[in-house]
Amino acid sequence: MNEDFNFNVKKKRPEEIYQNIFDYYTEQTIVQYATSKSMKKIQEKITLRVLEILDLKKKNYIILDAGSGPGFTSIFLNSVGFQKVIALDLIPDFLKFFDLKEVNPILADMCSLPFRSHILDAVISISALQWIYRDINNKSMELNLVNMINSFYNALKPKSKAVIQFYPKNKTIMKNIGKIIVKNTDFNGNFIIDNLNNPKKRKIFLFLKKN
Ligand SMILES: C[S@@+](CC[C@H](N)C(=O)[O-])C[C@H]1O[C@@H](n2cnc3c(N)ncnc32)[C@H](O)[C@@H]1O
Repeated sequence: MNEDFNFNVKKKRPEEIYQNIFDYYTEQTIVQYATSKSMKKIQEKITLRVLEILDLKKKNYIILDAGSGPGFTSIFLNSVGFQKVIALDLIPDFLKFFDLKEVNPILADMCSLPFRSHILDAVISISALQWIYRDINNKSMELNLVNMINSFYNALKPKSKAVIQFYPKNKTIMKNIGKIIVKNTDFNGNFIIDNLNNPKKRKIFLFLKKN
């Protein structure tokens, strides 16, 4: 990986401003997000790229959309033929946007999945990890990250995969996530970075494979 790219993020992201996620996701912010056509388009495009990385062989796979928000990814997956998608989010008001005929949403913390072992064929998480781990000095964030990754590992079937797209504030945070995963879990994996040298278009994916 080219180590020389700059993050150069000028505008502060919500997770840098708000300590508590519930303070940011008010009713107004949630409705704004959930009804934004441009956001839907962006998240669907990311989902397509994640599908390319995952290279799933069967449409009847059970896929978890972790940190689903109002379900742009889950509903898109459903529309391209994946009929067994579980959408999971921490914030109750996001779950009101789902059409229950398409996807059943679950209210839960992705750091502590409410599933038995070896049940999922894939995990997709889009634009959520930066809420969980964003400060290298915060031990409770580190613990949440370890719990999340181990929870994914436990719920995934052997040989299955997870792709986590996220927006780290800087390279140190990204590298630390890699180190924490190597130290605390049995996943193999790597980062995939699209548009490395274009901060506006850059997308960072953490690809994880269970043994
Ligand atoms: C920027 S939104 C992205 C939503 C959706 N993945 C999308 O692509 O539109 C981040 C989402 O992550 C969720 N989230 C953050 N931390 C979470 C946690 N610990 N457990 C479950 N969901 C979480 C938030 O509630 C929010 O819906």
